[in-house]
Amino acid sequence: MLRPAVSSDNTRRSVSGLTHVAAVIGDPVRHSLSPTVFNAAFYAAEMDWVYLAFPVPEGSGAQAARMVRTFDIRGMSVTMPHKESVIPAMDELTPVAQRLNAVNCIANADGRLIGHNTDGAGFLASVRDCGFEPTGARCVVLGAGGAARAVILALAEAGAASVAVHNRDPGRGRIAVTLAGEGAVLVADDALVDAVSSADLVVNATPVGMSSGDGSALPEDALHSELFVADLIYHPSETPLLAAAERVGARHCNGAGMLMHQAAEAFRIITGRAAPVDAMAEAMTAALAKRAEEGPQG
Ligand SMILES: NC(=O)c1ccc[n+]([C@@H]2O[C@H](COP(=O)([O-])OP(=O)(O)OC[C@H]3O[C@@H](n4cnc5c(N)ncnc54)[C@H](OP(=O)(O)O)[C@@H]3O)[C@@H](O)[C@H]2O)c1
Repeated sequence: MLRPAVSSDNTRRSVSGLTHVAAVIGDPVRHSLSPTVFNAAFYAAEMDWVYLAFPVPEGSGAQAARMVRTFDIRGMSVTMPHKESVIPAMDELTPVAQRLNAVNCIANADGRLIGHNTDGAGFLASVRDCGFEPTGARCVVLGAGGAARAVILALAEAGAASVAVHNRDPGRGRIAVTLAGEGAVLVADDALVDAVSSADLVVNATPVGMSSGDGSALPEDALHSELFVADLIYHPSETPLLAAAERVGARHCNGAGMLMHQAAEAFRIITGRAAPVDAMAEAMTAALAKRAEEGPQG
């Protein structure tokens, strides 16, 4: 039986000289959900580990990554703006991190620093959790930034039938498309509605819908009831795009599942143990609910 993910007073019993340390670096990082989610996981798995957040300014990512070895930190999550700049400090990159040129999780394997990227695996797990199978699916991805590139590569590797990419800056979009190999296409503005109308999956990997003044990332008449709509935004939990998906009867999910599953994958990589997914999901749901109460800036 799982222990409660978060006790009312603390998520762990004690810290000693034997306690293992894991951490996240970023700037900003104080609002990261990772410490809440990982500490809940360590508590549930009865592991003598603690997870901390270190604000590290831009330009110091590689130096901070090297400290993983110095301080015997067991694993480190990496968020903006360091996902690329930590790479020179790695002894090895996984093929996915290498293709994406971005690291979001560093494993410390007896002093060897291995750079992983768990965003794509997290995305696939989240849509599968919602009952959508990407293998064989015709997919449209909006965006060509770090999250979009992870999704494009993951969809191609999962055996999607096709991957079409639309991006505000077509030059950046063209580069992202190459991750999906032959058959992947860049979609022009005037072809987007047609591309979505014949798709099985559309993914919003842009921040459109995050701010209260934003409209939908896609016009509602482009959506249809056979579509699965995944928005990578998790705060707010319902973006204008997801509200439109609901109105047309399309299945949909927000980005909370991806966030949780990429953390679960990082837990497995860092600790070598199966992630207590229920406890992590419970902690994340509680933290996001608290944020929702605090409003858009929470
Ligand atoms: N759920 C999760 O676990 C998770 C993980 C990572 C990211 N995310 C979310 O995914 C989104 C993208 O993050 P990212 O890290 O990929 O950011 P990023 O690297 O900065 O890329 C942002 C992308 O969005 C596009 N974009 C930005 N503003 C836009 C606008 N007003 N209209 C149209 N396109 C616009 C950019 O287009 P240009 O190339 O033309 O600038 C670019 O393709 C964010 O909402 C983030 O919160 C979620």
